[in-house]
Amino acid sequence: MKALVLAGGSGTRLRPITHTSAKQLVPVANKPVLFYGLEAIAETGIREVGLVVGDTQAEIESAVGDGSAFGLRVTYLRQEAPLGLAHAVLIARDFLGDEDFVMYLGDNFIVGGITDLVDTFARTRPAAQILLTKVGDPRQFGVAELDLEGRVVGLEEKPARPKSDLALVGVYLFSPAVHAAVAELRPSWRGELEITDAIQWLIEADLQVESTLISGYWKDTGNVTDMLEVNRLVLESLEPRVDGLVDDSSELVGRVVVEPGAVVERSRVVGPVIVGAGTRVQDSYVGPFTSVGADCVVAGSEIEYSIVLPRASITGVGRIESSLIGHDVEVTASLNTPKAHRLVLGDHSKVQIGT
Ligand code: DAU
Repeated sequence: MKALVLAGGSGTRLRPITHTSAKQLVPVANKPVLFYGLEAIAETGIREVGLVVGDTQAEIESAVGDGSAFGLRVTYLRQEAPLGLAHAVLIARDFLGDEDFVMYLGDNFIVGGITDLVDTFARTRPAAQILLTKVGDPRQFGVAELDLEGRVVGLEEKPARPKSDLALVGVYLFSPAVHAAVAELRPSWRGELEITDAIQWLIEADLQVESTLISGYWKDTGNVTDMLEVNRLVLESLEPRVDGLVDDSSELVGRVVVEPGAVVERSRVVGPVIVGAGTRVQDSYVGPFTSVGADCVVAGSEIEYSIVLPRASITGVGRIESSLIGHDVEVTASLNTPKAHRLVLGDHSKVQIGT
């Protein structure tokens, strides 16, 4: 069995972070979200991974390499434009050959791995197996309709009037039967070859499509709120460890990780918090559910429930909460009177200023 991991696409909902970086590389507890998926795949025993990439190929390749760090062999499959999840299957045809495969969306986060699911599929071998979960607003997802016996009878991509509250999770298992379906597809109203249409095709061809309802934790990390929530969840199980320096006038409370080369001075850090390698925290408060990336500076500031990407600096500002701060960003206080907010923000930035 092989795996097809999708890390192309454009990530409009995580703008402006994703103007310059791949959304699958935004870190959760200082580790790219994509890595959690690759680890889950490695755990199943699968070794061959096709990684679908687009414009951000260079960045993804420099993070994942040949996959050996995960115990995987990664082949990069270039998709010239994000033409849909089924289009990714289409361009992966040669790589996949006639093997079964698991398709994993690189921005999805699932707790508990996929090993049981892959084992069940390998034993029962339906044409396709999908994962479903109940969601509050199904209109943002692929939505499944089940009959009274729980069989999937229909699928729709982001319907205006959903027929159920069961969303498709971004992990799918396929037998090679899916290739005939994908070859027949026409672009949807949004111009993409939809994997939901391919599965619908299998259902209409009377091929077996199984569904598993998961009640565990799943998030599509496509937006900032979900990203912060996944970060919270991962930090919940952080094992405290101090490999950097913490001075005597600082206090670490609860589960705090201070990575090598990090320095905490005259500060209070209330876990769960991770302070990345080489980062300096001075005269500050870092509150629960915050991940500060490598080589950052947090000085004379307060921050809580946030993700800070590498090399950002936050100096002399009041409290920052529920924020995602991109790499190399500088947040500073304005010292001159009048104390105006002076902003240099990229396109699509979002700022909420307390008044
Ligand atoms: O997260 C679950 C949802 O994922 C499902 O409920 C939907 O049925 C499914 O269509 C998908 O919806 P999204 O709108 O969230 O997909 P998105 O465009 O965010 O793409 C998912 C991942 O696949 C992301 O890592 C980017 C990558 N991708 C996407 C497209 C469209 C590609 O690599 N190539 C593509 O052409």
